[in-house]
Amino acid sequence: MFSASTSKSACLKSLSLARSTVTYLRLHRILSDGKMTFNRKRYTLRNFKRIIKTLLAIALKPITHFMSRSQRLSKLYFSLFSSEFKREQHAVLSGHRAYQRSLHHIGDSSVLLRRNIHRLEKGLIMRPRRSAFGKDYLNETLDCYSRCLNAASIDRQELQWAYDVLTAYFSVVDLSLPWLDKAYKRFCALREPQKNSGYVPYRRSEGVKSETSFEQFLTLCQQRRSVRWYQEKAVSMKVIEQAVQAASLAPSACNRQPFRFYTALQGKHVQDIASIAMGTAGFIHNIPAVIVVVGDLSAYPFERDRHVIYIDGSLAAMQLMLALETMGLSTCPINWPDIEEKERSLSLRLGLKPYERPIMLISVGYPDPEGMIPYSHKKSPSQLIKEVL
Ligand SMILES: Cc1cc2nc3c(=O)[nH]c(=O)nc-3n(C[C@H](O)[C@H](O)[C@H](O)COP(=O)(O)O)c2cc1C
Repeated sequence: MFSASTSKSACLKSLSLARSTVTYLRLHRILSDGKMTFNRKRYTLRNFKRIIKTLLAIALKPITHFMSRSQRLSKLYFSLFSSEFKREQHAVLSGHRAYQRSLHHIGDSSVLLRRNIHRLEKGLIMRPRRSAFGKDYLNETLDCYSRCLNAASIDRQELQWAYDVLTAYFSVVDLSLPWLDKAYKRFCALREPQKNSGYVPYRRSEGVKSETSFEQFLTLCQQRRSVRWYQEKAVSMKVIEQAVQAASLAPSACNRQPFRFYTALQGKHVQDIASIAMGTAGFIHNIPAVIVVVGDLSAYPFERDRHVIYIDGSLAAMQLMLALETMGLSTCPINWPDIEEKERSLSLRLGLKPYERPIMLISVGYPDPEGMIPYSHKKSPSQLIKEVL
């Protein structure tokens, strides 16, 4: 008679035998698929790499299993056995360096100015509003504002926004406090946009009001599908600009907007770029335009914010895709996995800095009405909502 433990161990043995068989078959397939014979001269480096990778994966499986048990072991694992995060780590660090540099070498925008002015805006809308706030970063903001005033290439609208918010701030805080009085005098002494443009907090009731009903919005969402078949019709930069205007209104952490849309509209460039991604197989030849959403890690001085580019970039990308739909164009997001050789090719093609990371690609074009769309069943709200009680 078999005991429960005997039958369990028998099961485990058969399972392990089955696994070995599968592994053997897999290797056998690679070896025979790969035609690894010197005399037939069909031996390729690619197949060799595949074999090594498969062998490594087999050997590492128990190690991975064991090392997944704690953070320390996981860290050891990634130091010893995997370099998959190498590029990301380098991007984050070089982002820090570029951030520090951006404090003194100001281009068309300053992340620090944007962040701090936004902090002041938030202070201005608080209920109740305090008569003194922002002490920790006020001088830093004025230093930065002063440097931006002297930067030739800074966007004038960004500067105007900073000026308006600082003016509004000093008009409501308690200037009898020495630190605020001193800062105010400093602000007054700086050169400035002379007029106020009203880029200051306003009441919700004074903002623009959309007439879009839920039904209309839902219809737009239903209309937007991942479209892979397009008409042979050129996409103009003008429609892209309009869509990017809508995308620029998406929320972003501290309003830093750390992304760019690298856009290719001409056949050769589109093909060059789209061919680097893996998810375009089968339909790449008919993509009229492609956008690469690129995140900029130089917007952050801290590691903790390293994911924000993906969040901000994706929120903007969604608005971009919906905006294009309203103008009769369709899109398909295309995955950008973190694969070193692909990262290298795309970075080289787009001239990206080490701290600039592709987030996703988006194919764009006028949809072919006869092109088929996968049904792609969606989960129901009840599946997606977990009420927190
Ligand atoms: C981040 C992301 C990556 C995607 N990558 C690809 C891709 O590489 N190739 C592709 O054909 N579709 C890609 N898609 C499209 C999805 O397959 C599609 O969104 C999904 O099936 C749902 O269909 P729908 O967009 O029509 O609603 C991607 C979508 C997202 C959001």
